[in-house]
Amino acid sequence: MSGLTHRNTPEARAFNEALGVIGAVEPRVADAIRSEINDQRSYLKLIASENYASPAVLMTMGNWFSDKYAEGNVGMRFYAGCQNVDTIEALASELACEIFDAPYAYVQPHSGIDANLVAFWAMLAAKVEAPFLDDQGVKHVNDLSEVDWETLRHRFGDQRMIGMSLDAGGHLTHGFRPNISGKLFEQRSYGVDAETEMLDYDRVRSLAHEFRPLVVCAGYSAYPRKVNFARMREIADEIDATLMVDMAHFAGLVAGGLFTDEYDPIKNAHVITTTTHKSLRGPRGGMVLCGVDGEEFAPYIDKGCPMVLGGPMAHVMAAKAVAFAEAKLPSFADYSQRILDNASALAEGLMRRGLRCVSNGTDNHLVLCDVTSFGLTGRQAESALNDSGVIVNRNSIPSDPNGAWYTSGIRLGTPALTTLGMGTSEIDEVADIITSVLDAAEPAKAKNGPSRAKYLMDTGVQEKCRERAAELLDHHPLYPQVGLI
Ligand SMILES: Cc1ncc(COP(=O)(O)O)c(C=O)c1O
Repeated sequence: MSGLTHRNTPEARAFNEALGVIGAVEPRVADAIRSEINDQRSYLKLIASENYASPAVLMTMGNWFSDKYAEGNVGMRFYAGCQNVDTIEALASELACEIFDAPYAYVQPHSGIDANLVAFWAMLAAKVEAPFLDDQGVKHVNDLSEVDWETLRHRFGDQRMIGMSLDAGGHLTHGFRPNISGKLFEQRSYGVDAETEMLDYDRVRSLAHEFRPLVVCAGYSAYPRKVNFARMREIADEIDATLMVDMAHFAGLVAGGLFTDEYDPIKNAHVITTTTHKSLRGPRGGMVLCGVDGEEFAPYIDKGCPMVLGGPMAHVMAAKAVAFAEAKLPSFADYSQRILDNASALAEGLMRRGLRCVSNGTDNHLVLCDVTSFGLTGRQAESALNDSGVIVNRNSIPSDPNGAWYTSGIRLGTPALTTLGMGTSEIDEVADIITSVLDAAEPAKAKNGPSRAKYLMDTGVQEKCRERAAELLDHHPLYPQVGLI
């Protein structure tokens, strides 16, 4: 690997100098940073939610913006001296609007969970609080009597939402009890058709009509197919609900112009949330956008901080602006297309070698595999692959018999390997490595029968798979311009 990385590029010099400065204060931190890049260079990363941000994006996060408090919004801060933060936040929002063709973008959320929380409160504020204040003839919650305030608080608690079930690929923040969204809203979930494993729009429609939620939530973290957001919007309109799309996973594919018309969340939803660090390849963070006819929500989204967010992280907003500038380049559209091509090649390669893929394939960046056909749980497959140089995560599959902890599936995504420059032939080799590992692994014995967590595998096969993974990585090194000392 080191033979293919360079120590005399501007990036290598900058990172090495920074590590020297950090190491002079606390060498263990500098060492951990070096170990992290070494680890990232040593595994084939197929975690569908991860990527590799560019050196420019990474560098933008280490600067003086980190020191600045800037609660509020551009031009309306609760702190003085925010002119440079204003420049950054305005630029990041402007670029976000450009890449998604959206009328409004709020770039402060620190993560996807925070973005969803901002969106939920914006929808509650617009649809519950604002009409209530109007009815009472007051402008602000502070003007309500104690009794009216209690009534409004209870009304917030009476609201409902629907979201995709977890075993179909939905996300915990879409109204599930362990997350704050499940405590805020009464939730019911919709899933996939038992045969096709594709989203069952008829079920969404009947559930929406029966349950009459305030919010119809679409989006996923482990559903391997495109969602027809125009159909979801029709359903939301029929019951006068707000359509929110969480595009955290596939935002890069939207920015790359691959999800258009009925598949475009911006054209169809009222409110859209996302992370910035997955397929979009930016810094760790979140964002909320308004859809083309969702601008009524903008003033409420704008109140995200200090409503539910802590002070904005201007250094991360700056890195978002850099990532959005990268996403505007024609090369990003090409990158997104290659993510899709690689995901299709991965699904085909795995199915050809006997691994069942949920819904029989993919039309986004991820592939969900049912590893029970190889006699394993998701947990065993995850560990066997990890020990063989391939990082994936275990995941439930629809109607999973092994539950959410052991699971029956693994989720694989192609954004990170595509960033390394791998194409469909390398991905076919990846599919072969994966199925070789799954073939060789078997459940270890536990006290009462086969273990669901531990696995056994011939060490020779494991070593061979690790070598094959290393060879692919040698030809496609992470950050070749950053050779560390
Ligand atoms: C669909 C979806 N929404 C939200 C999130 C939460 O993002 P974060 O981890 O940045 O809070 C995730 C992360 O996995 C996700 O997949």
